[in-house]
Amino acid sequence: MLQPNGAAELAARYVSIRAESLARTAHLTPEDMTAQSMPDASPVKWHLAHTSWFFETFLLEPHEPGFAPFCAGFRELFNSYYNGVGAQFSRPQRGLLTRPDVQTVLAYRRDVDVRMQALIQAGALPPGLVELGLQHEQQHQELMWTDVLHLFSFNPAHPACLPGAPPEASAAPEGWVAFPATLTQTGHAGAEFCFDNETPRHRQFLEAFSMAARLVTKGEYAAFIADSGYERPEFWLAEGFDFIRREGVGAPLYWRRGDGEWYEFCLHGLHRLDEAAPVTQISYYEADAYARWAGARLPSEAEWEHAAASGRLAQCFGGAWQWTSSAYAPYPGFCATPDAIGEYNGKFMVNQYVLRGSSLATPAGHERLTYRNFFPAQARWQFSGLRLARSVGP
Ligand SMILES: [Fe+2]
Repeated sequence: MLQPNGAAELAARYVSIRAESLARTAHLTPEDMTAQSMPDASPVKWHLAHTSWFFETFLLEPHEPGFAPFCAGFRELFNSYYNGVGAQFSRPQRGLLTRPDVQTVLAYRRDVDVRMQALIQAGALPPGLVELGLQHEQQHQELMWTDVLHLFSFNPAHPACLPGAPPEASAAPEGWVAFPATLTQTGHAGAEFCFDNETPRHRQFLEAFSMAARLVTKGEYAAFIADSGYERPEFWLAEGFDFIRREGVGAPLYWRRGDGEWYEFCLHGLHRLDEAAPVTQISYYEADAYARWAGARLPSEAEWEHAAASGRLAQCFGGAWQWTSSAYAPYPGFCATPDAIGEYNGKFMVNQYVLRGSSLATPAGHERLTYRNFFPAQARWQFSGLRLARSVGP
């Protein structure tokens, strides 16, 4: 299947991506890794096991001679949502799984790693599927941080996932970049890896528009709050205004008020708000309301991709996922594969919005111009922010 060089490269890539998952737990205790703060967030221990389950189920089981599972019960415990594989343990109750303990989950990882390495190096696995498993692991690496951060946010001692102070953001230059009306192409092309939801590449007509050169900052967002942005219904979608009143939302999820100043709970604990950094942990509703307050709107994902491809925007990647106004829907001609892997993306294409770019929690090398992240409009625990757009013309 693979040339010897290709197998060695893939084996090295496997080692490094699997190691990153463990590196993200360096400052966590077994207790930190076991608790679950809400149905949408999973325990870190579950992420560590589930990413191994993915390799065991989709690579080892069909390709390893004489395959036997590490533990038969894990098939159900760590199946996230694949009906084609079978039953799944209740997602909101993952935090009740005190067994297997962290040590056993780490042993599971080591076992899967040894067996995966043997088959990768023998060229016995479909490289595209191994790559999907690695990209899947990277997605869960980001979720490990967003989920444990949400858990820690309930702790008045403000525990930190990472040591030291947060890196200070340098302010990116402000401004707008104009794009004339055009028939553009959206979606992935070429032989490099992408998720199925990024295809097929297709035409999109764009009216003339402008895009903000950088992301909306925390300082700018604080001005929206100071201008009573959360109290003024004229900026809000009806559903969004109901949501913030019902949930008592008046600021991004981890902002805290003290001594007349804003503080923010982050991966490094509680710190004074870094006004130059991109705002994060806001819902679609908040992003949309901010944009209306600022006399702008959210970009569509086709506008975002066209503008980002121009190379004229700052902060496309690595700051915050950027909400777009585009519903998460199949591209024209999209077709999920009929096997269990076809459940990866396609079945979630309802009631969600697309976010583009990548965030500070995204592992290095995982970002991509055509990447389509997606969350429901009310999701606030991700590193989600926004970039403004404006229509231009008559
Ligand atoms: Fe998963």
